[in-house]
Amino acid sequence: MALLSDLPSHVKIIEVGPRDGLQNEKAMVPTATKVELIHRLNDAGLSVIEATAFVSPKWVPQMADAPDVMAQITRKAGVTYPVLAPNMKGLEAAIAAGATEVAVFGAASESFSQKNINCSIAESLDRFCPVADAARDAGLSVRGYVSCVLGCPYEGDIAPEKVAEVAKALYDMGCYEISLGDTIGTGTPAKAQAMIAAVTRHVPTEKLAAHFHDTYGQALANLLAVLQMGVAVIDSSVAGLGGCPYAKGASGNVATEDVVYMLNGLGIKTGIDLEKLAETGSWICDQIAKSSASKVNMALAAKRSTTGD
Ligand code: HMG
Ligand code: MG
Repeated sequence: MALLSDLPSHVKIIEVGPRDGLQNEKAMVPTATKVELIHRLNDAGLSVIEATAFVSPKWVPQMADAPDVMAQITRKAGVTYPVLAPNMKGLEAAIAAGATEVAVFGAASESFSQKNINCSIAESLDRFCPVADAARDAGLSVRGYVSCVLGCPYEGDIAPEKVAEVAKALYDMGCYEISLGDTIGTGTPAKAQAMIAAVTRHVPTEKLAAHFHDTYGQALANLLAVLQMGVAVIDSSVAGLGGCPYAKGASGNVATEDVVYMLNGLGIKTGIDLEKLAETGSWICDQIAKSSASKVNMALAAKRSTTGD
């Protein structure tokens, strides 16, 4: 048990299903379904729900209804609904929609940066600076993402030092938390630990979040590895939905149900009702005609059907 003794006592979960989970869906998901998903996640106890993205509808058509989603959700006290904002246009629209938190999103890979946001890493950081300043002036919190921290779909391996450099730049421009994305889910535990070790030479561990996709089934193992290094914020997606339109073949984020089950087993508090969460996972999968990527979700659904609950 010695190896597991350094785990945090509480982990904050950032539910990214309504944004990361749905952004890649080919068929347009009705706004009402997105809104109901957010309400159900609220009811399951999620206190941070990334609601949508104020990005170009030409690039990501599924997020074109961002203003409508923000207008139609009933906001619960104590819950935050961050949104993506890649530029001033996105920030202005997010502010007009009443967002209280935005996220800028960069990458540790030049090729991915070009494909995802149509500019180099340096250009993206130059673009994010005024966005972060203006957001803070307007009273919003700003989060920063770094994509491709454990591999890139175009370049392969990414040096941990490059991840650290981009994470530091986002932290220095005032992002209160840096979310480290294994966008294509190719990472393994030792690699994840080496990346966190490099980043924490520049950014405090308590300012980091792990945003791991589960393409190769490694996300939970990678999470456990970084939890042991003190990372206590996890991004996850209900039913493991999702993928990035600019990372072909990548599957969804680690499923929130799987993360909560693991954390429950480790005695780590999240404040989330696993049963309600799993029902929400089954519900959204029905709505978009997908099967769940969450093993916990499937196990609980099978249990419900045999016990008749
Ligand atoms: P661009 O084409 O270079 O931008 O795109 P532009 O400034 O030349 O504008 C082109 C058009 O888009 C113009 O419209 C703008 O008005 C419009 P037109 O004049 O042609 O009619 N436009 C916008 N419309 C709405 N909202 C905006 C906006 N900005 C410009 N904010 C841009 C650059 C960044 C806008 C584009 O590349 C983009 O929107 N990219 C977003 C891609 C994206 O959302 N990817 C998925 C999210 S990232 C992710 O999933 C990874 C993550 O989960 C972490 C991980 O897993 O690693 C976060
Ligand atoms: Mg992602």
